[in-house]
Amino acid sequence: MKKDAKIDTKKMEKEIDKLVKKLTLDEKLSMIHGATLFKSGAVERLGIPAVSTSDGPMGVRAEFMNDRWIPSGNNDDMVSYLPSNSALASTWNTQLAHDMGHVLGAEARGRGKDMILAPGINIKRDPKCGRNFEYMSEDPKLTATLAVPFVQGVQENDVAACVKHFAANGQETDRLMVDEEIDDRTLYEIYLPAFKAAVQEGGAYSVMGAYNKINGSHCCESKDLLDLVLRHEWGYDGVVISDWGGVHNSKEAAECSMDLEMSVFPDFENYKFANPLKELIQKGEVSEERVNAKVRNILRMMYRLKMIGKQKDSRKAGAYNAPEHREAILRTAEESMILLKNEKGALPLDKKKIKKLVVIGRNAAKIHSDGGGSAEIKALYEICPLMGLKMYLGGNVQVEYVKGYHVPDKPKTFEQNWQATSLDDLADSDVGQAVRDEAHEQENHRKGEEQRLAQIEKEKAEVHEKNKKLFAQAVEAAQDADAVIFVGGLNHDLDSEGFDRSNMKLPYEQDIIIEELLKVRPDMIVTLIGGSPVEMPWRNKAQTILWSYYAGMETGNAFARVIFGEVNPSGKLAETFPARYEDCATGQNGQFGKWGSIRLEEGLYYGYRHFDRQRIAPAFCFGHGLSYTDFEYSGLSMKAEKGRNVKLTFTVKNTGKRAGAEIAQVYIAPIAARTNRPVKELKAYAKVELAAGKSGKVSLTLNQQDFAYFDEHLHEFITDAGDYEILVGASCEDIRLRGIATLA
Ligand code: BGC
Repeated sequence: MKKDAKIDTKKMEKEIDKLVKKLTLDEKLSMIHGATLFKSGAVERLGIPAVSTSDGPMGVRAEFMNDRWIPSGNNDDMVSYLPSNSALASTWNTQLAHDMGHVLGAEARGRGKDMILAPGINIKRDPKCGRNFEYMSEDPKLTATLAVPFVQGVQENDVAACVKHFAANGQETDRLMVDEEIDDRTLYEIYLPAFKAAVQEGGAYSVMGAYNKINGSHCCESKDLLDLVLRHEWGYDGVVISDWGGVHNSKEAAECSMDLEMSVFPDFENYKFANPLKELIQKGEVSEERVNAKVRNILRMMYRLKMIGKQKDSRKAGAYNAPEHREAILRTAEESMILLKNEKGALPLDKKKIKKLVVIGRNAAKIHSDGGGSAEIKALYEICPLMGLKMYLGGNVQVEYVKGYHVPDKPKTFEQNWQATSLDDLADSDVGQAVRDEAHEQENHRKGEEQRLAQIEKEKAEVHEKNKKLFAQAVEAAQDADAVIFVGGLNHDLDSEGFDRSNMKLPYEQDIIIEELLKVRPDMIVTLIGGSPVEMPWRNKAQTILWSYYAGMETGNAFARVIFGEVNPSGKLAETFPARYEDCATGQNGQFGKWGSIRLEEGLYYGYRHFDRQRIAPAFCFGHGLSYTDFEYSGLSMKAEKGRNVKLTFTVKNTGKRAGAEIAQVYIAPIAARTNRPVKELKAYAKVELAAGKSGKVSLTLNQQDFAYFDEHLHEFITDAGDYEILVGASCEDIRLRGIATLA
């Protein structure tokens, strides 16, 4: 952990010990489990407040009643809607990661919270994972380098970031029970590094244990993960909080480094860390010292957040909906959009040449902030693309909108939240231990999944019927316009917590309408909004494709500014876009989305590491993204420095006529590796802003760890001496410069 800036650690630990001695067992137990759905218990007698938590990654979630998943409904909880983590990651901009963390932390504090349940930093292993939109990247290095400034940005506000979900929470199917078999090398090289960086470099005050099991143990009860890795190897002294309902066994969770149990149920006294743990302690089966250790971790976080102690009066107050938050959100949204293709230079559109613009597709007019599961928020506002275009163009341009395809209505009620659903299951029954056994929970979720799939089948027929008319309308509208923009993609009926997508295709027959439209308008600008990759079978026919993740409240403004060239796009893919799902590692080995257990057979070889190894061309590779200008790379030089560091320098030149930003990526390819290693792996990157015609020098340092792999037998990272090829490029496939670094 990083040293606490102004806190005298020794004194703090003494104060903590004193407080622990004063607390009764009941008081201590009340502090280590939920007393409401989002708060732990307070001990007023000693001035110890509750820890007030809130989701989530895209803004501070609406207030709920204390013991029901019913929104409080006061309309005082509307907030700034931030770009999703997948959008943020596409900026490859560490300053923006800091700024978004700062905004989220300030808003959380402004709403009186102590802990914000963000960022989600799980590694994207499969494109169908329902929560991919909440996560950053398929790459551990990119995720780690963005997570660190994000966490720091949050915590500057005296609010704890809570990095989640520790660890390898890569699928939603059977998420509460699924057991993932993962070898140590894969765990240490792929699924753990971002958490390690968030804790050690970012100084995260809290970590959320994941629902899933790893190698037979629930993450929230795993001695290996929480004691050995997190506390012992990484020296973590912050709080470990469970995912909601992630603790299953009082003794196991008590005897490992799980500190604070939260759940979705209102029977707070029956939580595993409440009466059931008290009984175990009274019977002598669990030592009270276990509880003391948890309380100490919680009190330490409280000191750091200035919730208690001498610095209490100087705790930051935060602010929500501040105008500067919206500015930072707009900048991030602008940088997050990714120009995948612009073959004939149709983009940017020229405002002066357009009298009539036709916009087709439901995502043009769709609001996304209110969906996705626990990431849903009540946005102060959300500017959809259609509104952004109209606001940008003003009243003299005719903007015609046609739906293009049908999306079945899903009237949103709070009951649809999975958390509410699990509560519903208990509504008429005895809200006690008996009904909360694992088999019962799993059965409920399986039933829910069956119902959901049956509903989707029903909706398909409805979509097909309605689309006939909508397709004809769209094709007709497209013919008579100066420019046509299609805005399709996914939404949170598909990108959501609680389930995975059943395939990687565009829903609602969009592939058909896109093909039809491209026949009459080959110059149509295809834009897609979504939280994870989709197949684009028509991609060779489209001249222009722009991708956006859920980009927050300013999406529409950012969209218009990119389309009309006020902003030169600079986002790049933080994950591979496969041509077909079957091309993915998990598409081939079938080890994703299964109930019961999965084996991460592909090990290190998923995402670009898999496409590289199997020499499969994806539709759009990791790191890809175009600009309205061009960049030239030259002059790679390398210098060995102390401690087996290698300093790289090279030059990037903007050779076009517009200012723009380039994300230069550095990959390491071990030559004659002594063990199996990916063909290449991202180890550094830099985002360089350059005026037209200007050059910039980039300096980056690779350290010993960047060359290392994890040796399972020695249980440590090893860096072999020898030659490594250093690849510098504009994407994982577009390598511009090469050199050899030799490690002694
Ligand atoms: C999610 C967490 C979330 C928690 C509280 C769980 O279902 O997995 O990400 O923070 O609920 O809402």
